[in-house]
Amino acid sequence: MGEGGFGTASPEETEAAGAALAALLEPGDTILLFGDLGGGKTTFVRGLVRGLGHPDPREVASPTFAIHHRYEGGRLPVDHLDLYRLEGVEDAMAWQGVLDPLDDPSGISVIEWPERLPWSPEGLALELYLQRGDGEFRRQLRPVFVGDRGDRIAAAWPANVGPD
Ligand SMILES: Nc1ncnc2c1ncn2[C@@H]1O[C@H](COP(=O)(O)OP(=O)(O)OP(=O)(O)O)[C@@H](O)[C@H]1O
Ligand SMILES: [Mg+2]
Repeated sequence: MGEGGFGTASPEETEAAGAALAALLEPGDTILLFGDLGGGKTTFVRGLVRGLGHPDPREVASPTFAIHHRYEGGRLPVDHLDLYRLEGVEDAMAWQGVLDPLDDPSGISVIEWPERLPWSPEGLALELYLQRGDGEFRRQLRPVFVGDRGDRIAAAWPANVGPD
């Protein structure tokens, strides 16, 4: 399914989309965020964490050194992974440690640079593709809904997230 894509015209609008998606999420849902450097993936996660009621979503940043951040204190905990630095890592043991947070069925997992993943994660619900559009502040967001979890989100997406 490739329907439900829409554009944003500012970081705030991309954050708002993440916050709107948050309301549709259930424990164990996994979201993959594809797109170029500066595409708006972390901005979207900040909105999602805010939408879940985390006390300080400003903490959400593109992790410089850490690959994993966990945000607690909202409706559901969020494990945020950025796999950018793991290009070319094939050691299964190394991956096991990195991906351990994905085994927690009680929270949400959101993964930047999921192209690096050596296997498909549990609970996959949504792949979101973020692309730059015309002008500095424009981004295109295109969802691909996956499996039963994805069907649930797809049903509520047009009224809650986009397009308007
Ligand atoms: N419409 C928009 N949506 C999201 N971000 C935008 C938009 N317009 C401008 N920006 C800017 O683009 C940048 C997006 O950065 P962000 O860290 O979210 O990207 P990213 O996809 O996580 O990149 P990386 O792959 O480096 O982690 C921010 O500086 C943000 O202010
Ligand atoms: Mg980022």
